[in-house]
Amino acid sequence: MTVLELFRYCKEKLSFSDSPEFDAICIFEDLLGIAKSKIYFNDISVTDEQVKKVEDVINRRKNGEPLQYILGKWDFYDLTFNVGKGVLIPRPETEVLVDFALEKIKDIKSPIIYDLCAGSGCIGLTVAYHRKDATVYLLEKEEGALKYLKSNKEKYNLDNAYVIQGDLFDIDFSQIPQADVILSNPPYIPASEIESLQKEVQFEPITALDGGTDGLDFYRCIAEKWASKVKNNGFIALECGEEQSDDIINLFSGKYSEKQVIYDFNNIDRIVTFGI
Ligand SMILES: C[S@@+](CC[C@H](N)C(=O)[O-])C[C@H]1O[C@@H](n2cnc3c(N)ncnc32)[C@H](O)[C@@H]1O
Repeated sequence: MTVLELFRYCKEKLSFSDSPEFDAICIFEDLLGIAKSKIYFNDISVTDEQVKKVEDVINRRKNGEPLQYILGKWDFYDLTFNVGKGVLIPRPETEVLVDFALEKIKDIKSPIIYDLCAGSGCIGLTVAYHRKDATVYLLEKEEGALKYLKSNKEKYNLDNAYVIQGDLFDIDFSQIPQADVILSNPPYIPASEIESLQKEVQFEPITALDGGTDGLDFYRCIAEKWASKVKNNGFIALECGEEQSDDIINLFSGKYSEKQVIYDFNNIDRIVTFGI
């Protein structure tokens, strides 16, 4: 069997996916070490081991395992994050939050930033990477996610990023300095909707998804306990689920200089921001 024949076979077996060609290219490049440019014009034979690897990936994908977990990494913004079972896969819509934050902190010198519920660290570490003068604290509770968070911090050698293992709902604030910015993409799916999620999403940790009965438990906590930790002229920016923005704005009843909703590329309300 040639490289091209195996590629066509792989693509066909992945036809249930939204993007079989793209997925097959990722598998060839990352798992078989065959560059995209070599796939289409290649009559070289593949080895038995390469065929076995492709069969293994197809089976795992058929079981619902996300491609990102199989590859062990995924691109986010201009970085590539290590991912795997136990951590939420960074989503493209979260880049909207990073874009907003990087633009907004342009005028703040050496900002102190919290990324609450940090997961892989895609938000906080990307900001730390682009703003070496910032100090970024990344709070995460779950061991499964912390493993990837730490490895991603190491991968990019980010001495300005600090991983804190802790519980958003139960933190000792005497250890927490005032911040300029709070960023967060917390779990926000209402508990009753978890079971009806796509099979692939259910592969991701429930602790990264479940936002309590109405999906708003984490926003409530940030409004009640964390918002007062932000300095004057700072801001809070939170990712949210579709049609949650109004309810979240209502939770932040204090005096905010500005409240704004930002929509993503699908025109879904995606980020809520509060100026302090
Ligand atoms: C929706 S995921 C977001 C991960 C990452 N920020 C991203 O955008 O991909 C939420 C994260 O919150 C973490 N988490 C859940 N409960 C928490 C708690 N009580 N305190 C801190 N982190 C928590 C989960 O482990 C998960 O990594």
